[in-house]
Amino acid sequence: MVENRVLPRRIVMMGPPGSGKGTQSAILSEKLGLNTYSAGELLREAAASGTPEGNAIKEIIDKGNLVPAEYIVNRIEAKIIEPENHKGYIIDGFPRTLDQAKVFEEMQQKPFFQKNNLAVDLVLLLQVPDEYVIDRIIGRSQCAECGMLYHEKFKPTKVFGVCDNCGCKEFTRRADDTYETVVSRLRNYRRVTAPVIPYYEDKGLLVCVDGTGPIDVVSEKIRKIVGY
Ligand code: AP5
Repeated sequence: MVENRVLPRRIVMMGPPGSGKGTQSAILSEKLGLNTYSAGELLREAAASGTPEGNAIKEIIDKGNLVPAEYIVNRIEAKIIEPENHKGYIIDGFPRTLDQAKVFEEMQQKPFFQKNNLAVDLVLLLQVPDEYVIDRIIGRSQCAECGMLYHEKFKPTKVFGVCDNCGCKEFTRRADDTYETVVSRLRNYRRVTAPVIPYYEDKGLLVCVDGTGPIDVVSEKIRKIVGY
């Protein structure tokens, strides 16, 4: 029997640091043929620019605090309105405060968003306890060329030291992936990001996913929700 439900294609990925937002967004992006935009990645790009704004952003990220909303809201909006994203998009790590969620809601009420059907239709919340988070973040690395995420224990490269995706042999680690910074990021998550969860629950958009299993087990759960 053919299902008639409308499948979600404008997706927000939420969850604590290290819950797998970036990993699962990349898998979804490939499966659905949609672009994914990580708020953290957009801010790290800005931080690397060396401008006064970039330097201010870098200082905040390196301490594990949240940057002011004005640095991220416009960057996200600029991505969503690109014509190639009118078929759908995935946003990882935004909104991350109740204020950002409200500004995002106002954005979605704009005539351009309404006309092009750009409003979010699913918020996926990856749930992972703190003890998983530390292990995952401390072991993380990223291909310097294509950005593919790895983990020394949970997702090593198939050939040691060579990116599975692009063959690059250089890997980077994030400056904010230290134990102290992760503790601060977790504290911020509980204090200012957790209140966004009931906000989306009330809107009927939130679906929780147990993010504790291996990567392919989590992505299978997401596949069933998203439908591909
Ligand atoms: P951001 O880059 O978004 O960092 P984060 O939220 O702390 O999340 P992470 O990227 O650390 O983790 P993730 O959930 O993507 O997990 P991943 O898939 O990499 O933000 C960084 C900073 O930018 C913030 O602290 C803040 O300063 C600023 N910022 C960002 N957004 C902002 C906003 N909206 N407003 C204000 N400031 C903002 O996985 C982690 C590791 O685990 C990887 O090595 C992966 O291989 C492995 N792994 C993934 N899934 C599994 C699994 N199921 N089993 C085992 N290992 C797994």
